[in-house]
Amino acid sequence: MSDKTVLITDSASAKTSTLPLVSGNMGEPAVDIGKLHKDLGYFTFDPGFVSTASTRSAITFIDGDKGVLLYRGYPIEQLAKQSSFLEVAYLLINGELPTSAQFGAFEDEVTHHTMMQESLKNFLHGFHYDAHPMAMLCGAVASLSAFYHDTLDISDPEQRRLAAIRLIAKVPTIAAAAYRYSIDWPIRYPRNNLEYCTRFLHMMFEVPSEPLQLNPVVAKALDLLFILHADHEQNASTSTVRLVGSTGANPYACVAAGIAALWGPAHGGANEAVLKMLADIGDAKNVGKAVEKAKDKNSGFRLMGFGHRVYKNFDPRATIIRETCHQVLAALGVNDPLLDVALELEQVALKDPYFIERKLYPNVDFYSGIIYKALKIPTEMFTVMFAIARTAGWVAHWLEQHQDKDTKIGRPRQIYTGATTRDYTPITKR
Ligand code: CMC
Repeated sequence: MSDKTVLITDSASAKTSTLPLVSGNMGEPAVDIGKLHKDLGYFTFDPGFVSTASTRSAITFIDGDKGVLLYRGYPIEQLAKQSSFLEVAYLLINGELPTSAQFGAFEDEVTHHTMMQESLKNFLHGFHYDAHPMAMLCGAVASLSAFYHDTLDISDPEQRRLAAIRLIAKVPTIAAAAYRYSIDWPIRYPRNNLEYCTRFLHMMFEVPSEPLQLNPVVAKALDLLFILHADHEQNASTSTVRLVGSTGANPYACVAAGIAALWGPAHGGANEAVLKMLADIGDAKNVGKAVEKAKDKNSGFRLMGFGHRVYKNFDPRATIIRETCHQVLAALGVNDPLLDVALELEQVALKDPYFIERKLYPNVDFYSGIIYKALKIPTEMFTVMFAIARTAGWVAHWLEQHQDKDTKIGRPRQIYTGATTRDYTPITKR
């Protein structure tokens, strides 16, 4: 807490409220409005939480104007180049980079929790054959609470830790199983001799009849995408996990709620929507028309993969992904015409005053779909991929929340716009 304050004066009553400023280690301070209602009788109104910090957190820092993203203080560019997704997951959860011994123990524990129970497999088989894999993932992750009663006592730090490991370990297994079910292929069990991303790719693509020949470029690209998607401070899905977590709900229910929030096209669903949009545009020569449509408020169409609530300069993840996209496509010998459409769209939009004035830049999802497509990940799985990576962030926030003595149930207020008090009329008199 800083010793600076903000004085609010109610011009109607001349009453005042002196509100403390709260500062973190980096970033802008916030006004602690906790006693505003007691002092002046007012709530605050902030739809979409545009100006509201909902919690203190030591996990991820973003400077939206400068395009900075840090996980536990480490720049995303350095982690993308030098780390691995599983090491980043450890970092997010534990706050420090692991030693070799710590990483070995963590990897071993995650690896040995990747299996799912046969009855969970049968549960997945209950879905209709054309179920969207996000629907299956959401349902199956929520159902983990029915399978792992030994991790439901959230007052026990060891049970919380084990639940976090289970989620990081099992979400890829469930995700791959959901995909295999959707194409009527037999589900593959996780192979413990493979590392995290390669194991996931084997569960996705290996057929029982022959060994899978996997280009190492594929696992490396996937690992990078997972690092970039692992956390993003209080985004909509993480805030959802925290809101559900604030009620004392179990970790599997909290993460399932996060998956549901991620699914929306304004959030993680954007990567799937980008690819559909690029396919609809079809050819670089049609880009001008699409940009005009996106500027027309009556069209209901937005450029998917453009814009961000926090980044108003550039999204550092998009910069890394853009470069990787070219490298991966070249390394895999993929010539995707959608990349030409994407490049043209980016060029045209970045020069257009509408996008310049509103500070709308390509975000992380603009290029990730093109990479996923080159890796032969089906479009319906794009948001699932995001969910696998974001699980690391969700559990890190959930763990942090349960160590924070200031945590209380999230319960916003409202500005009521309905009917004023009126008397009930019996149905015969209406
Ligand atoms: N295309 C066209 N216009 C846009 C777009 C877009 N993609 N994004 C924002 N605008 C306009 C919007 O119409 C508004 O214009 P005006 O001021 O004239 O009314 C202005 O820019 C500000 O938009 P906003 O909706 O108030 O901004 P927001 O911070 O509430 O929304 C956003 C951020 C990411 C939801 C939005 O930019 C968007 O819908 N983008 C497309 C979906 C997308 O790519 N989502 C992925 C986000 S990054 C990954 C993740 O977080 O999951």
